[in-house]
Amino acid sequence: MAMLAEAKPIISSLNLVKVGKVNKNLPMELYSGVYKGKVVNLLLNGKCSTHGVDHIGTQAATLGAHLGIEKFSPNMVINAGTAGGFLHDGASVGDVYLSHPIVCFHDRRINLPNFKEYGIGNYPCYPSTNLAKELGLKLGVVSTGNSLDFNTFDKNLMKSYNGVVKDMEAAAIAWVAQLYSTPFIAIKAITDIVDGDIPTEEEFLLNLSEASKKLGEKTLELLAII
Ligand code: ADE
Repeated sequence: MAMLAEAKPIISSLNLVKVGKVNKNLPMELYSGVYKGKVVNLLLNGKCSTHGVDHIGTQAATLGAHLGIEKFSPNMVINAGTAGGFLHDGASVGDVYLSHPIVCFHDRRINLPNFKEYGIGNYPCYPSTNLAKELGLKLGVVSTGNSLDFNTFDKNLMKSYNGVVKDMEAAAIAWVAQLYSTPFIAIKAITDIVDGDIPTEEEFLLNLSEASKKLGEKTLELLAII
């Protein structure tokens, strides 16, 4: 997970214990526990020591995913977080999506043969149609980039693979999971409507706490049945 605010409801409902850093040089912080007989290792990206904010985005996501998979060899990698949704997909703030059937990058535009597809990524997700039905969740292609804002280039690329959930980590983590042949799924609660009227940063901050609560509830349900 990327932000402490997103993780807090899960940490407290699962009574996860803060273990601390896994590698003294890296900012990632580990919280650990057992839920319904399953070991849960929640690896948070930690804070930037220069700016004092959570490490969001693909660099920390890649590093954290590698650290966690190397250390724990998990049966499954779950990227839980918040994301932007789209009116054109019927999204509302508080909706929760499972990534399906792929996650992609929308800001790696490389207009060269084969590099174009490489940039988009197209990483597979654990099949989640039945999980979504059982948990009352939406399904959609999660699309990752390193900016909170949105531009026409991102929009056109997202359209090309039917991306409907915009985040900043999923595809980076999915890439590492694919390298390790570990099943991957993203669960994303919507904080803001990308093609709506309210400025994204305003809507994101307004809804972060409520969406994170919803994310926590649904992540627990997912952990229980997976
Ligand atoms: N996380 C929450 N809202 C987001 C958005 N609109 N874009 C990227 N990441 C987000």
